Amino acid sequence: MPRVFVLNGVNLGSLGDRRPEVYGTQTLEEIEDLLRAEFPGVDFEFRQTDHEGEFVAWIRDAAGSAGLVVNPGAWTHYSYAIHDALEAVSVTKVEVHLSNVHARDEAWRRESVVSPVVDVVVAGMGVSGYLAAVRHVLGR
Ligand code: DQA
Repeated sequence: MPRVFVLNGVNLGSLGDRRPEVYGTQTLEEIEDLLRAEFPGVDFEFRQTDHEGEFVAWIRDAAGSAGLVVNPGAWTHYSYAIHDALEAVSVTKVEVHLSNVHARDEAWRRESVVSPVVDVVVAGMGVSGYLAAVRHVLGR
């Protein structure tokens, strides 16, 4: 069974309540259930934290797995620590954003400091972005 890490960062534990017009109405738990149902042959490691150091340690934990799906939330836009952690892990890496960060009002959202060290970026597909990311990790 391939092991796939799905790491969600800061504020993503509030999905469902948080700006549903931007991020949708599904909770993170519902998204994880959907992934489990869609990919029964995958051994998922689902984790969410609001603590950057913890997130960095979890990125390291993904070494040796089939791949890593990351939504670092706002850390995407400024965390060089997360950039460096991702750069150091040699697995397939997909950056996911529920919203199309390039079409958002704030200029700072249009920059990602982690995109240069991932294989694929998915933005604006909502929950389907996570499905597409896992499919990519699995090579489908
Ligand atoms: C997000 C986009 C980020 O700009 C924001 O800070 C988030 C969520 C997304 O999934 O669209 O927390 O990563």
